[in-house]
Amino acid sequence: MMKILPSILSADFAHLAEEVLDVAHDADLIHVDVMDGHFVPNLSMGAGVIKALKREVAIAQDVHLMVEEPIPLLPQFLDAGADMVSIHVEACRHLHRAVQIIRDGGAKAGVVLNPSTPASALEAIIKDVDYVLVMTVDPGFGGQRFLPSMLDKIKAVRSMINTLKCPVAIEVDGGINEHTLPLCYAAGASLFVAGSGIFSSADRHTAIERLKRSIFK
Ligand code: DX5
Ligand code: ZN
Repeated sequence: MMKILPSILSADFAHLAEEVLDVAHDADLIHVDVMDGHFVPNLSMGAGVIKALKREVAIAQDVHLMVEEPIPLLPQFLDAGADMVSIHVEACRHLHRAVQIIRDGGAKAGVVLNPSTPASALEAIIKDVDYVLVMTVDPGFGGQRFLPSMLDKIKAVRSMINTLKCPVAIEVDGGINEHTLPLCYAAGASLFVAGSGIFSSADRHTAIERLKRSIFK
């Protein structure tokens, strides 16, 4: 089953709770981008935002950690109520330890691949995670152009999962719209993050519906 995850990086930060409420009925989860200014050349938000939103809106949160060596930061995101937490393979020296901490904290654990990281980087970890996030842009900013060459990587991850028969979902993030979503879906993804594609539209309900319907075209 496919799921749509609005990325609040593109929401109006001055009215964040209202923005999340505006998509909560149509979306399955929200996607929260955490950036440290080192792993990616931008700063965004921290665990305080997750906790505050949790209090205001009943929607599950998928937290994408774009930070160097995330392990020391994991407890605060888990305590804040993150439902899914993903870490970059490029940023974390001890991936299995990180995944274990996330799962022990009651959240689903995901690993993320930057566009230049091959699918083979997953070989030693894929059986131990709940989802793989294939970045379809280099992380750091919303509103970037989808990289079509990532479709082959999504297919490679899908065939790895099918061969191993492990229940791992594939998420995609970056440049997802009604044209790129069906391509990723056909390649094997089921979780679709969309930031500017949803929040730049005045009518978020229609924007999400259009994304959901795009796989039937
Ligand atoms: C990029 C972030 C994305 C971003 C996606 O570094 O990880 O989640 O918000 O934005 P769009 O959908 O606008 O490409
Ligand atoms: Zn993201």
